[in-house]
Amino acid sequence: MAKAKLPSGPAKGAFFCSGCGTELMHWAGRCPECKEWDTVVAAPSESNRSYRSNRTYEARALSPEEQARPLADIPEPDIAARVRVPMPEVARVLGGALVPGSAVLVAGDPGVGKSTLLLELAEKLSAAGSRCLYASAEESAAQTRLRARRLGAASPGLLVLARSGLEDILAECRRTGPAVVVVDSIQMTWSPEYPGAAGSVGQVRQCAAALIREVKESGAALFLVGHVTKDGAIAGPRVLEHMVDTVLHFEPAGQGAYRQLRAVKNRFGPTDEVAFFEMTGTGLIEIPEPSALLLGERGEARPGAAIFPALGGSRVLLVEIQALAAPAAEGYAHRRAAGLDANRLHMLLAVLARRGGMQLAGCDVFANAAGGLEVPEPAADLPLAAAVASSLRERPLAAGLALAGEVGLGGELRAVPRAAERVREAARHGFRTIILPRASARGVAPAGDIQVIGAASLVEALDKALA
Ligand SMILES: Nc1ncnc2c1ncn2[C@@H]1O[C@H](COP(=O)(O)OP(=O)(O)OP(=O)(O)O)[C@@H](O)[C@H]1O
Ligand SMILES: [Mg+2]
Repeated sequence: MAKAKLPSGPAKGAFFCSGCGTELMHWAGRCPECKEWDTVVAAPSESNRSYRSNRTYEARALSPEEQARPLADIPEPDIAARVRVPMPEVARVLGGALVPGSAVLVAGDPGVGKSTLLLELAEKLSAAGSRCLYASAEESAAQTRLRARRLGAASPGLLVLARSGLEDILAECRRTGPAVVVVDSIQMTWSPEYPGAAGSVGQVRQCAAALIREVKESGAALFLVGHVTKDGAIAGPRVLEHMVDTVLHFEPAGQGAYRQLRAVKNRFGPTDEVAFFEMTGTGLIEIPEPSALLLGERGEARPGAAIFPALGGSRVLLVEIQALAAPAAEGYAHRRAAGLDANRLHMLLAVLARRGGMQLAGCDVFANAAGGLEVPEPAADLPLAAAVASSLRERPLAAGLALAGEVGLGGELRAVPRAAERVREAARHGFRTIILPRASARGVAPAGDIQVIGAASLVEALDKALA
């Protein structure tokens, strides 16, 4: 149906949203288009319309390098120009090395250690010969110096700039010509050219765009530190995540001083790699063997715990899957999953009840991947089901046992990818038995002393696991 034509009213555009660019006739506390609060501002005068979304653009004749040309005619970038990252765990998450002209957003909760991580990285890059500019919009140069001393960061060449003005940061980038620029943080960077206070959607978006433009031209690699809101989103416009090449989340891993860094977007590498660190008085220490750390917190064998060799990017991590099945206090039974897929938990409980004859109807069931890890793989089905069964029967699983397998609705076990690597990692950490779907167990070469048991169904696997 054709849209009804609206009667013409007063001219639009007295106000506009600094986040999404929507023009409005009246001021509003919340943009009706992008639903962001406090983004609607008065439109700039005619003489200064540069940040209006619908600004006119006068096309000019493009130079031969700027014009569209066949892919084959575009010279390949020099791989050697990539900046080597001297922190191996950070390099793993970044996908190897830093691409010149790329932008990486590192987001995390207040106090998680973002500045510590990036100051350490900047110092190590600088010590390895890459000119590095660390622009701190939040701390003074003296505070940064103090932190550097605590971290034992002593590279004399690291350039520190304690300014929050965008123009100052851009000017110092041009003057010093760094290979890597760190801006800590993008929410505190501010320019009088754009409307709103520091941290407002418009400021964050425009400052990030200006910094990204700058490094695309200069060939430097850019790190932007980003704050996270109460509900875990990166503060500022959602579009920030589209503007950068890589988004890394820096978060606590389990209790205490452990941290994890993982990529949620990466234009130049995988997104399933995770790096682990320990926060100490002298800075962050990389943990190259996270399985040992994750297993170290395990303690005595107890009901409701199963070890799962999970895929974490290019390596296998041994993760404890925990479940607690207890009679529901009254009425509706609760089912909750942390770090695991809640829908799969519901499905598994139905399969356990129907195929395994387990009495779960009146039970609360809580499931958790220990260490604060996210375990989205279907291969976690079997260890999760085994943890639930073990909790329900109040009997620990067989000692030295690991499990992996996807469970189908019929209770059958389906093959898991990279079974041999999972077996090798379990064997390396002293596990004596691993239960896998029969199809996966068949082709696996023996590793160490570990016994590989193939099971066709969930019921068969549970019989062996709880024997
Ligand atoms: N002397 C110290 N010993 C051990 N840990 C310390 C010490 N000083 C700071 N820390 C740790 O460093 C954390 C702060 O790190 P950092 O300032 O890098 O965090 P941030 O994410 O940049 O915080 P913000 O969001 O405030 O900028 C503290 O929460 C604490 O865990
Ligand atoms: Mg900080």
